[in-house]
Amino acid sequence: MSTSREHFGSRLGFILAAAASAVGIGNLVGFPVNAAKNGGAAFLFIYALFVFLVCVPVMMAELSAGRASQRGPFGCYQLFAPKHPLWHFGGFLSVLTPFMIAVFYLVLTVWILGFLLEIIGGNLRAMAEPEFFGSFITGKSLFVYLVIVAAFVAITLHFGVQKGIERGAKIMMPALFFMLVAMVLFILTRDNAFAGVKYYLIPDFSKLTTQVINGAMSQAFFSLSLGMGIMITYGSYMDRQASIAESARLVAIADTAVAFTAGLLVLPAIFSFNPNTNPDELSSSSVSLVFTFLPKVFLALEASLGYIGATTVAAIFFILVLFAALTSLISIIEVPVCAVMDQFKSGRNRSLLMIGAAIIVVSLGCVVSFGMADFFTHFINYGNCEAGTKCKSFFDLIIDVFYDTILPLNGALICVFVVYQWKKRNFDKELENGDADYKGSIMEKYINFSLGTFIPLLLLLIFINTVLSKFFGTSLI
Ligand code: PHE
Repeated sequence: MSTSREHFGSRLGFILAAAASAVGIGNLVGFPVNAAKNGGAAFLFIYALFVFLVCVPVMMAELSAGRASQRGPFGCYQLFAPKHPLWHFGGFLSVLTPFMIAVFYLVLTVWILGFLLEIIGGNLRAMAEPEFFGSFITGKSLFVYLVIVAAFVAITLHFGVQKGIERGAKIMMPALFFMLVAMVLFILTRDNAFAGVKYYLIPDFSKLTTQVINGAMSQAFFSLSLGMGIMITYGSYMDRQASIAESARLVAIADTAVAFTAGLLVLPAIFSFNPNTNPDELSSSSVSLVFTFLPKVFLALEASLGYIGATTVAAIFFILVLFAALTSLISIIEVPVCAVMDQFKSGRNRSLLMIGAAIIVVSLGCVVSFGMADFFTHFINYGNCEAGTKCKSFFDLIIDVFYDTILPLNGALICVFVVYQWKKRNFDKELENGDADYKGSIMEKYINFSLGTFIPLLLLLIFINTVLSKFFGTSLI
C-alpha cells in the first residue's frame, strides 16, 4: 500500500514533538549529576556553548535534509547519493543506531514503569534497601511491564504523526513541565536544599579536564537527539513554511532549560537527604542513581511528610521520568518504522508490527542480561575486562556502542553529507524556506562555514577519543 507522507499539524506541534524527543532520562538525571560532579556552572557553560555552536547547526542540517528529501534517514542518504556505498552505509547506521537505542531505552523505560508501580503499591521502604534493585531486574514482572510499555508506544505510533506523536507530546510535555516546576518548588523548601543549589551553580573551572569536556559534548549531543535519525525523520514531517533555524533554536532552548531545571530538583533533593554528600562520590551512572540512590532520598522525606507523603513525592518524580522516557521512546521507534514505510512503501501498521517485534526480541536479550541468562549476562570481552572473562553483558555492549560512542560519528557523517554531497546551495535554499531573514545573515555564514569544517572534525575527534577510552583504555587528548 502506498501512502502519502504525513505532516505535523502546526509549528507548535512540531516544536513540542521535537522537544518531547529531546527531553528524556538524559536531561532529568544524566545532566544534573554530570554537572554537579564536573564543575557545576563551569560544566553548564561548556555544555551550553556546545549546544548552541555545534548542536543547533547539526540539528539544522538534519532537519533540512529530512524536509528536502521527504524521507527518513535511510531514504534521504539514498536519494541524495544514489550511487555511493559510503553514504548508503551512513544511511544504514542512522537506522541501526535508533533501533539499538530503542532497544536499551525500552528496557530503561520498563524499569521506570516497574518502579512507579512498586511505589504506588506501597513498597518505597523495601525499594530503599540495597538489594532491591538486584532482585527487581531479575523479576518476572518485567515481562508484564514490557508488554504495557510496548503497547502504549505502539498505540501512539499507530495513530501516526499528528494524532499520535504530536498529540502525545501536546499532552505529556505540559504535564511534565508542570510536575517538574512543582517538584522543584517543593524540594527547595526542604532543609539543606540550598547546599545542593550551591554545589550545582558555583563554577569550578579546575574540574574541566579534556575528559570532562568530551563528556559534556557527548551529553549535549545525546540530549538533543542528534545522530539518531530522529531529526531527519521529523524534518520530513515538517511544514515548508516553518523556519528551520528558529525551530532548532527553540528545541535546544527547551531541552537545555529542562536539563538545567532538573538540576534544581535532583541536587537539592540529594543534599537535603544528606547535607554532607560529596557529589564526586555519586555514582557515575544515571541508572544506579535513579534506581538505587533516589528511593533512599525519597524515603527520607518520611520524617517530615509521613510514609504516604514520601510515597506521593516519589511517585510524582517517577511519573515525570516515565513521561520523558515514553516521549523519547516514541520518537526513536518512529525512525525505523518510517524507514520501513519509505523503503517498502508499506503501511504504518505493518511497518510498526515488523519493527516492534524486532525491537522486543532484541530487548528481551537485554532484559535477561542481568543474571537471568548467562549467555547474555557474560556476553563479550573488551575494555577493562580481565583476559579470559566475558565481563560485559549484551546490555553493556549496546550501551557502550550506541549510547556512548556512535552518535558523534553519525553527526559528523550527516554534516559532511549535507555540505559536500547534497551541496551547500541546496541546503541553503532549504533553510531559506519559511525564513525570509536567513539569506545573508550572520547565522547563514556561520552555519555554512562551521558545518563544512570544524564541526565534523570536532565530532570525529570526540568519536575517536571515546572509542579509544571505552574499548582500548587509552585516549587521544
Ligand atoms: N534526548 C534523550 C534523553 O535525553 C535521548 C533520547 C532520545 C533517547 C530519543 C532515546 C530516544 O534521554
